Amino acid sequence: MSENKTTINWFPGHMTKAKRMMEENIKLIDLVIELVDARVPLSSRNPDIDKMAANKYRIVLLNKSDMADPRATSEWISYFEKQGCITAEINSKTGAGVKNIQSLVQAACKEKIEKNLKRGIKNRPIRAMIVGIPNVGKSTFINAFVGKAATKTGNKPGVTKGKQWIAKGKDLQLLDTPGILWPKFEDQEVGRRLAFIGSINDEIIYTDELACDLLEYLKKLYPDSLKDRYGIDSFDLTPVEILKEIALVRKAILKGKEPDINKAAGILIDDFRSGKLGRISLERPNKKLGGINLA
Ligand code: G4P
Repeated sequence: MSENKTTINWFPGHMTKAKRMMEENIKLIDLVIELVDARVPLSSRNPDIDKMAANKYRIVLLNKSDMADPRATSEWISYFEKQGCITAEINSKTGAGVKNIQSLVQAACKEKIEKNLKRGIKNRPIRAMIVGIPNVGKSTFINAFVGKAATKTGNKPGVTKGKQWIAKGKDLQLLDTPGILWPKFEDQEVGRRLAFIGSINDEIIYTDELACDLLEYLKKLYPDSLKDRYGIDSFDLTPVEILKEIALVRKAILKGKEPDINKAAGILIDDFRSGKLGRISLERPNKKLGGINLA
């Protein structure tokens, strides 16, 4: 394994196109519903959204909360609320927390709804767009929130060119294509956190290196996860030694009877991404608890 860590780069071409599409669509809507990954709520945000949605009502949803540490999630909810965002934790896969969102929409857009009523404008639905980085769960969320019975309104395909809206009751319309925000980072630590959760193409990352970084974090903050899953509780081991242990426990052995570190690294990363290591959050608003530089 090399001593120098691989630099994780991103592709600006994707970003520019997605950003342009978002900018076009954002003009049409009142409300931005932003999904972030509850395990890395800051790293999984693209800071451009603050500028793009500056004059829009905002809701931040901490998705995949089933995989995040509940203590960290409640800290993050307070954090976002202090920033003036309406926030909730959800699990789009099971639908937990999704039912309450309709009332959050009403709360977020209260000012506009009241203004419309005063002007005598009734039944004017709120128009919203779901945004988030790839893989954060936008499509799963739309399915859970609107359900299969969703009716598409607006321009009919083939008749008039235009946007498709999905009606959620009579009070809300969602743009049917979620806004994709590519992750953006100068900080390699942010890149690594996105790689842990699988939001960065694995082809540009060395799994063994990533696994070692993850182990440093787990050793420090979630040592029980290694004990419970692999029976490892010698915390003076180096990450490579832990990978060797995992290889032995999982019978990942090379021909010369050497433990297969690469395979063990893959097992660790897969176990983390599928939640088998328990509910783990990789960042906290409190820096002492593995937090991130919020500046
Ligand atoms: P995207 O549109 O933002 O790109 O994300 P998408 O909905 O495709 O979801 C990406 C993956 O995240 C999917 O898993 C989806 O099931 C999973 N996911 C979404 N929300 C949640 C959640 O709240 N909790 C958990 N645990 N998982 C969630 P996949 O492995 O790609 O597909 P599948 O095997 O689940 O079908």
